[in-house]
Amino acid sequence: MDPVELIWRNGEFLPWEEAQTHVLSHGLHYGTGVFEGIRCYETSRGPAIFRHHDHLDRLEKSAELYYLELPYSAEEIRGATHELLRRNGLSSAYIRPLAYRGYGSLGLYAKDAPVDVIVAAFPWGAYLGEESKNGGIRAKVSSWRRISPGGSIPHAKASGSYLNSILAKTESTNAGYDEAILLDERGFVCEGSGENIFLVRDGQIVTPPQVASILDGINRKSVIQIARDLGYAVVERDVARAELYLAEEVFLTGTAAELVPVREIDDHPLGQPGEITRHVQAKFEDALTGRAEEYLEWLDFVEAPEAAAPDSSEASDSESIGRITPAA
Ligand SMILES: Cc1ncc(COP(=O)(O)O)c(C=O)c1O
Repeated sequence: MDPVELIWRNGEFLPWEEAQTHVLSHGLHYGTGVFEGIRCYETSRGPAIFRHHDHLDRLEKSAELYYLELPYSAEEIRGATHELLRRNGLSSAYIRPLAYRGYGSLGLYAKDAPVDVIVAAFPWGAYLGEESKNGGIRAKVSSWRRISPGGSIPHAKASGSYLNSILAKTESTNAGYDEAILLDERGFVCEGSGENIFLVRDGQIVTPPQVASILDGINRKSVIQIARDLGYAVVERDVARAELYLAEEVFLTGTAAELVPVREIDDHPLGQPGEITRHVQAKFEDALTGRAEEYLEWLDFVEAPEAAAPDSSEASDSESIGRITPAA
């Protein structure tokens, strides 16, 4: 991780090294946090955050599912994020907002533990490697099943849920693969340890449905729309494990990884990234980086400081942005 200058925490911009938390923070002990992974891309019209509103909306929903009351509105977190990117001089970045129960109580009825909110932004390249986007990756079906709705909430992007992803990722990496594919509790295909999954079967694009314990990925949603706009049929249905091996093409989508073809699963070769994967990937990358006019509405442009100043007299005083008042 490459440190940058500042991290936003509870309304203040702190030096990177000073953004610490108490060792008795509730979230550290029990995983009581919700977060997002977001990317900002450099475009010809300046830095732009991909589907920022959708990410903040999911953050709010994840918080609600785990009874966390966010002390800041989505709009305040959005404003803080823009200011953070500007102050850190970042034109492209991985952005990590996190809301977690902080210091004050260790009981499991956690209503008394305060909710702390941070936003960090820092440079982070393609999660599975830049080459993976061209050449594809090798994946292994995990012996660990994805968290199930019977005991947890797959739809929430919650810190504690990632122990499950970490088990799967560690197993696949130790076995020499690039990524894990998890099945759901029923044994149907679910997703990667940090990505949603798509298959091509008989020319049709298939992806596991909401009931397959997936995280409802924002890139999944984007790719479904892009693929349909390109004229492909996209079906959300349960996928049997063997279909992974029988597929013409398989690819993964996620904010960190972007769109990554899979070239081998459990030692069954799928071959070089296929035509449909390539076609959708090219348009997807255009959408991320502002080259696709039809998807410009997905981009939240980060205004340069000079442009931001006339918006309000308060905004021109950057210190005032650093002290955002908590939402009621
Ligand atoms: C478990 C899991 N599934 C799927 C995804 C893909 O979601 P998104 O496209 O919103 O990044 C992620 C990444 O956030 C993830 O962690």
